[in-house]
Amino acid sequence: MAIKVTFVCLGNICRSPMAEAVFQHLVSQADLEQQIEVDSCGTGSWHIGEEAHSGTQRVLRQHGIPYNHIARRLSQNDLFQAHYLIAMDQDNMEDILRSGSTQAEVGLLLDYAPELNMHEVPDPYYTNRFEEVYRLVEAGCIGLLAHIRKKEGI
Ligand code: 4NP
Repeated sequence: MAIKVTFVCLGNICRSPMAEAVFQHLVSQADLEQQIEVDSCGTGSWHIGEEAHSGTQRVLRQHGIPYNHIARRLSQNDLFQAHYLIAMDQDNMEDILRSGSTQAEVGLLLDYAPELNMHEVPDPYYTNRFEEVYRLVEAGCIGLLAHIRKKEGI
């Protein structure tokens, strides 16, 4: 059974779809597609059914990262099926933990990149700083993949 990694933000149009695409790209480059499944969702429902924000699509395109995701909301299935639920900020993390019980490792993406000395991915929906967010997301995803490979022995 594949290890399931689900990234979580508020709207599921800016940060978590970016993290999903970047992490999926790293997984593919490492030839781990059979072992690791990647997804994302949001804690809010405003953008269900939408494509990623144009800013997220732009930075992914600029960095040559394929993207394919439609926004959806965090569900009980996610809590049940995910092995890793990775939040972009503290509010997302609290919302995940409030939604129900889970066996998943629940963590903040940037805690997997301690060299950054940051804990939260700032929301580009309000700042429009998509490139800065890309750098943070990329560092977090690299650290997360190393953590998962070590923990899972893959
Ligand atoms: P995200 O950004 O959580 O990174 O997808 C947001 C997108 C939409 C809203 C807030 C944050 N919103 O309030 O609609």
